[in-house]
Amino acid sequence: MTGFKKAFPRHSVELRLSDLNVLLKTIFSGKIFKGKESKKFKEKFGNYIGEKYVCLVQSCRLGLYLSLKAFNLKKGDEVILPVYTHYSLPIIVKLCFLKPIFVDVEEDTGNINPDLIEEKISNKTRAVLISHLNGVPCRMKKIMEICDKNGLKLLEDCAQSLGAEYEGEKVGTFGTVGCFSLRVGKALTGFGGGVIITGDKEISENISAWIDELPMINILSLCKEIIYGIISFLLTRPLIFTFTLFPFFQILETLKSGLIDGLTEENVSTKCNSSFIKDISYQMANIQAGVALNQLNKVDFWNQKRFENAQILAHFLQQTKGLLLYKPGRKKEYKEVSYHYPLRLKDETRVFLFRKYLLKEGIDIKIDDLLDLSRCDFLNNVKGFFPKVKALEKNVLQIPNSPVLKKKDMEEICYRIIHICNILFG
Ligand SMILES: Cc1ncc(COP(=O)(O)O)c(C=O)c1O
Repeated sequence: MTGFKKAFPRHSVELRLSDLNVLLKTIFSGKIFKGKESKKFKEKFGNYIGEKYVCLVQSCRLGLYLSLKAFNLKKGDEVILPVYTHYSLPIIVKLCFLKPIFVDVEEDTGNINPDLIEEKISNKTRAVLISHLNGVPCRMKKIMEICDKNGLKLLEDCAQSLGAEYEGEKVGTFGTVGCFSLRVGKALTGFGGGVIITGDKEISENISAWIDELPMINILSLCKEIIYGIISFLLTRPLIFTFTLFPFFQILETLKSGLIDGLTEENVSTKCNSSFIKDISYQMANIQAGVALNQLNKVDFWNQKRFENAQILAHFLQQTKGLLLYKPGRKKEYKEVSYHYPLRLKDETRVFLFRKYLLKEGIDIKIDDLLDLSRCDFLNNVKGFFPKVKALEKNVLQIPNSPVLKKKDMEEICYRIIHICNILFG
């Protein structure tokens, strides 16, 4: 076929026929909201991660909120967290009436820099909240040492790192509590949802009691999530993407750079709004747990494919001018899952131009929307200097590495990136 150029979407949503089968079976059984799948999923997830108690909620952020609440801290106590992570984290800390204290991150991974934690500990510090970003675990040895030495609770945000390991232990098992996201597009989805894991019986009982008080997700929101998930799955198959979303994205980019972000991305808010928690406070439905249970069988395979694809990118692009590469699998104590392949430009002022050129070449990339959280609207003049976050904010580009992409697709992506780099930075 002459003139045909396959396009590659930024992310993929992975669903299989067996997931749709689970959906249909659960609908016909009438056990959409309550049923045995939730219990089975809890058991299997607990075994997979290696933790005793598992609770299900409607999102990771609700999980993080309930976990912090379960720490039973006093108003004004301090929680240490990375200055570069999901925007919801400092909001959650504030809504628990606690004080967020930021620590700068490591430039290569974007994860909290453990070497900078101790200088932020005061007599009010009670907990550390960390995010394992892009499927790469934080440096847990040092973090655990600090928490143990100072009697701090540890909360792990594992929304981007399901299945990642540090020294043979899965992330989520190091802290007092670990939270995971089952949002559409994550390593494993339940058409939305979140999982809380802990080895602490009392904490799990408290959290379970709070969850029991919550309303169930309503049928309309559930249908919306399922339809959104199925449409996203279809549109992120490279061939379908090539003939549907991709031409549309090209038109948007021609009209105005950045229009795509407005349409495709979550509305990132840095406002501490009291309805923030109320709006996400729902139980997870049995049908969601059923799909997640089925997906759990495939998550290691998909993670491995993503990791291999990330290695191809790192290998082929290593000599390319203008790029700062992440090299997956460098450290033997880590098992990374390469949830996203993060690429940075040496000259961050050319990020939007780079994206525009790549889109012309058929590669849709997302500019990571993680922010310098010390600038949140509701935090008045956060003290401190966070030089590394400046190097990352708006300069982490998520390159396609989804499990449906084959070796030759990855090589094709690399050739096109190299071509653009030769034009822009040659
Ligand atoms: C690092 C990180 N933490 C937390 C969250 C929140 O997850 P959820 O959307 O399930 O609340 C996300 C979501 O993308 C995330 O990437």
